[in-house]
Amino acid sequence: MTPVRVGLIGCGKVGQIHAAALRGIPEAELAAVCDVSAERVGAFAGRYGARGYTDVDAMLRESRVEAVVIGTPHGGGRACPGRKAAGRDPGRL
Ligand SMILES: NC(=O)c1ccc[n+]([C@@H]2O[C@H](COP(=O)([O-])OP(=O)(O)OC[C@H]3O[C@@H](n4cnc5c(N)ncnc54)[C@H](O)[C@@H]3O)[C@@H](O)[C@H]2O)c1
Repeated sequence: MTPVRVGLIGCGKVGQIHAAALRGIPEAELAAVCDVSAERVGAFAGRYGARGYTDVDAMLRESRVEAVVIGTPHGGGRACPGRKAAGRDPGRL
């Protein structure tokens, strides 16, 4: 089975827990990580062999992820990463 390509938005404490859990799921591949902090992105991308982004839209557009894990703080209104990801056609995430 081809692993599902997963994107992680928010490379903080909860993001770390989800990234580590994904590593243990053979059917999933952490393909891309995103955070507004380039330093955090760099650390996660290196640790998990994922492509790093500091821009959610670029990640959703370029990385061909099929599922997204959100690890950002609550809120953010229309700009919040969860809304952006959910706004995509699931077949075209
Ligand atoms: N820490 C916990 O034990 C815990 C437990 C349960 C739930 N949560 C929830 O999980 C969420 C994250 O908590 P955390 O403790 O991991 O916070 P955190 O501050 O450690 O990590 C959040 C990360 O999201 C990034 N971020 C913020 N806005 C962003 C955006 N628009 N695009 C991309 N990246 C963005 C931040 O730079 C940061 O790296 C919160 O909603 C929190 O309530 C946390």
